[in-house]
Amino acid sequence: MDQDKQKREAALAALEFIAPGTRLGVGTGSTVNFLIDALPDIADKIDVVVASSIATESRLRMAGFTVSELSEVGDLDLYIDGADEVNKQLHLIKGGGGALTREKILAGAARKFVCIVDESKRVGVLGSFPLPVEIIPMAESLVSRQFVKARGQPILRKDFVTDNGNLILDVHGLQITNPLEMEQRFNQVPGVVTVGIFAQRPADALLIAREGGVDQLGS
Ligand code: A5P
Repeated sequence: MDQDKQKREAALAALEFIAPGTRLGVGTGSTVNFLIDALPDIADKIDVVVASSIATESRLRMAGFTVSELSEVGDLDLYIDGADEVNKQLHLIKGGGGALTREKILAGAARKFVCIVDESKRVGVLGSFPLPVEIIPMAESLVSRQFVKARGQPILRKDFVTDNGNLILDVHGLQITNPLEMEQRFNQVPGVVTVGIFAQRPADALLIAREGGVDQLGS
């Protein structure tokens, strides 16, 4: 089964979590795009929808949805998003598409966070995927030095500005054996907006598509 087919199957499995009257947050990326394509068929169940990026907002609009601001909506019932790496504790690396900060905000505002991935994203230890970190531009060298001390190799993402007007460092070579601790430690470095580790607020349910079906961890 090819990767796109698995991404689509994980996305379709997440539809089961959408109950009538859902205030829904929608993530960013190629897996979530399959979800957005399927949402018009169950539009009557969705009360309001909030987007985690400008790209997702325009795609939702093209699919016929009115997109609300999080501050107008308050809490969300459900947030559905992909990830770049997942472990069995439901900790994630996110931000391959650069939308990590808004994604973390929506995950934090949601009662339930359902993460949808194909099996290539499953790892024992997070960190083979370079860790995306959103930074305030003037802090690039200060933040980079902190990651070098932790034996990472930070590389500034070329020609990329986030939806918030900031930069992304992709930190290679980390072995994230304690995701909670690393998330807390690096979020405190001045100039870091947020790191792409989702451990303080992990997924509640992880849907992993593989050949022959979709596995669910958590609920
Ligand atoms: C976007 O910034 C990311 O967090 C995505 O959720 C992640 O990169 C997964 O993307 P794909 O679904 O395209 O693999």
